[in-house]
Amino acid sequence: MINNIAEIKDDILMSIKDIESVEQLQTIRVKYLGRSGILTNLLKDLKNVNPQDRPLYGKLLNDTQRFIEQNIDTVMEKLLSRDKLLREKSESIDVSFSKITAKRGALHPLTKVKNEIINIFIGLGFSVEEGPEIEYTKYNFELLNIAADHPARAFADSFYITNDIMLRTQTSGIQARVMEKQTPPIKIVCPGKVYRPDADATHSPMFQQIEGLYVDKSVSLADLKYTLELFAKEFFDKDTKVRFRPSYFPFTEPSVEVDLSCAMCHGKGCFLCKNTGWLELLGAGVVNPIVLENCGIDSTVYSGYAFGIGIERATMVKYGIPDMRLLFENDIRMLEQFK
Ligand code: PHE
Repeated sequence: MINNIAEIKDDILMSIKDIESVEQLQTIRVKYLGRSGILTNLLKDLKNVNPQDRPLYGKLLNDTQRFIEQNIDTVMEKLLSRDKLLREKSESIDVSFSKITAKRGALHPLTKVKNEIINIFIGLGFSVEEGPEIEYTKYNFELLNIAADHPARAFADSFYITNDIMLRTQTSGIQARVMEKQTPPIKIVCPGKVYRPDADATHSPMFQQIEGLYVDKSVSLADLKYTLELFAKEFFDKDTKVRFRPSYFPFTEPSVEVDLSCAMCHGKGCFLCKNTGWLELLGAGVVNPIVLENCGIDSTVYSGYAFGIGIERATMVKYGIPDMRLLFENDIRMLEQFK
């Protein structure tokens, strides 16, 4: 029995020697002093011990209990103060550390301009329609009355995937898709990326357009002019003037090229407008009846207008940006000016 107790003391010293955590120490405490711990059981057995030996043996067990408690308490204190130090270290703030400057992001100028244009047209009663960037030639060309010998249809002037599937060159294909499905009135704007094999200061192989289409009974060129004037005054400023010049698109008849009085010099002449006082902004016209018929709309009842705005072009004109490539390089010094 006495030997047994000496062994317990040795064991306890051994097991708390390299202890790592408070939890481990608690387990050891339970192992010896818990309700059915080693020492607790010995104390319970005391009643079976021979009555003369009981006082001596009882004292020995009490001493051992105290011994175990003291040793465990000492180690516990060490562990707790170590944990406290670690916690303080990890939570401390180095006030001499230089501050981290997080930069605030912003929408790309092209996205801003696109949203702005869309919002103006939503305000005029248009809704937004989108379509696929990989398009059938049927929608990009055929239904829009673009004849087989039109230069845009040449393999060198468009990106083809197969003979009848291509990267769309204009968002006008969405017009055809919507007219095929819906009956007038149709009043939509169609934003999206388009692709053409051109690349220089004012052309990029990928750029964005926003096309507008309004088809209803007795829609005329005058409605088109009125709408574009409202748009120009809202997008630029109130005294912006709009000028129509005759032009040609297979899908509109008559077709016009739309100029705005220069946003920079207000018509006086500057580098942006090449001293003409006017900026060419978009193509438009009265929807060719052939296109209406191609898409299943009775051209004796309905008429419409359409226009197509280049978003890069609109951004360049609005902010006086001389080179389109600046809009794609994403130089942070350039982008930050649009925050
Ligand atoms: N789709 C023409 C283009 O890409 C623009 C346009 C749209 C012209 C609608 C007239 C009517 O150049």
